[in-house]
Amino acid sequence: MNSPVDVVVMAAGKGTRMHSQRPKVLHRLGGRPLVGHVLEAARRVAARQVVVVTGHGAPEVEASIQAMESAKAIFGFECAAPPAVADAPAAQAAASGGPAASVPQLSFARQTPQLGTGHAVQQAVPLLADDGVTLVLSGDVPLTRPETLAALLAVCDGQHLALLTLDLADPTGYGRIVRQPSGDVQAIVEHKDATDAQRAITEIYSGIMAVPTRLLRGWLGRLDNRNAQGEYYLTDVVRLAVADGCTVRAHRIDDALQVAGVNSPQQLAELERAHQQRQAGQLLAAGVRLADPARFDLRGHLRCGRDVDIDINCVFEGRVVLGNGVRIGAHCVIANATLADGAVIHPFTHIDGEAAGVTVGAGALVGPFARLRPGAQLGADVHIGNFVEVKNSTLADGAKANHLAYLGDATVGERVNYGAGSITANYDGANKHRTVIEADVHVGSNCVLVAPVTLGAGGTVGGGSTITKNTPPGALSVARAKQISLPNWQRPTKTPR
Ligand code: UD1
Ligand code: MG
Repeated sequence: MNSPVDVVVMAAGKGTRMHSQRPKVLHRLGGRPLVGHVLEAARRVAARQVVVVTGHGAPEVEASIQAMESAKAIFGFECAAPPAVADAPAAQAAASGGPAASVPQLSFARQTPQLGTGHAVQQAVPLLADDGVTLVLSGDVPLTRPETLAALLAVCDGQHLALLTLDLADPTGYGRIVRQPSGDVQAIVEHKDATDAQRAITEIYSGIMAVPTRLLRGWLGRLDNRNAQGEYYLTDVVRLAVADGCTVRAHRIDDALQVAGVNSPQQLAELERAHQQRQAGQLLAAGVRLADPARFDLRGHLRCGRDVDIDINCVFEGRVVLGNGVRIGAHCVIANATLADGAVIHPFTHIDGEAAGVTVGAGALVGPFARLRPGAQLGADVHIGNFVEVKNSTLADGAKANHLAYLGDATVGERVNYGAGSITANYDGANKHRTVIEADVHVGSNCVLVAPVTLGAGGTVGGGSTITKNTPPGALSVARAKQISLPNWQRPTKTPR
């Protein structure tokens, strides 16, 4: 039965053990808030509607989710599952956005005070239609695979109560799955309410269930809080279902990571590692050569062409596209950038394009210790060397700035050679101005180009010049004090005391 899927995300809990001001579901895993992973899973199962139950930090949680969702709706990229490796043209297409997938309708239900998981879902069901299946997720369980949720929905089949379960060597603290002699599920008993015999059961409830909404609605109305914690347990719907003669089915998985929740910074760090390992494994399987998958971090989306090499301790953030044969040296941080075929990034380079992006042309060499900031657009075979910073500047093919330099708000022509220690003085304290360096100009070492200024094509600027006026094409321009030499100069001597 193909019923519409409506998702309830429980996210009202406090997260005391995080010892943090920030609401738990907004802590980040892989660069994205925990609840963002859960919403992503909801999108991947083509949910019709998502209701997030908020309580602790509700305004902050709701604002953050709304911002995430509108970003997805505008850019439409976080929904698709792009292959890790693509041919360069496809990678370019993906970088430009791609079609937006349908976004589930999002709403919030406030739960104050928090009286248990049953009470949480009670706040959400009035927003749901009877013709759907409700998939219950938790905002602090980030690594559930969409295929697992799809399998659970198939077990539910629009008519049964379906529970996601698994066996744990140490089931302490979890709700236990109590089965009838026939093998059908009879009840979930919370750890605190369980007898010793029940505590010996190793099959636990993961916290994820799929249930026809019209049935769920009825059962929720019959919950009580007569239990060890004085809470309204969502898990009590199992007993009510059995009493009503409704089949309760378990979909048992063996990958504990998929249902692991985050309760403490330790658990968050463990899941982060596991998530990174998973991502690294996907890249390796697709042919990307990671020098060490244990020393690789991706906090966003990375698409790679063929024969990409990534050395140790690199961090990728936002959206990064690497063309064929790109090599990334050790200890680089690269965010929101597109690197064309054969580009080489030497160690300790920091690239962050933020919203404007950074592009690095084919065969360009960058670093070591270079910094590319938003709006840096490097053409083919550009060289950017150590301690060079580029911001909001275009460098045409073959331009070079190899040492200790700053290019801000500059338009740099083909084959320009920009000397060590030279800078564009682009800011007058109030406004930014542009520097235009036409093709084949050589700027000597330690020059200051005071913008707005244009250096004519093929010209040369003598080292140490402070250029405040446009320079003519082809000319040598020098703007520094003339050198003088005083012959037979006597150095001062020390006065005796
Ligand atoms: C719950 C299950 C337990 C299962 C375990 C799996 C119940 C009664 N028990 O236990 O069988 O083994 O999950 O992890 O459901 N929340 C709210 N409002 C509330 C209470 C909780 O939004 O009033 C949210 C929490 O923020 C969290 C989720 O619901 O995201 C689960 O709550 P939690 O207290 O962790 O449930 P457990 O007691 O661990
Ligand atoms: Mg609890």
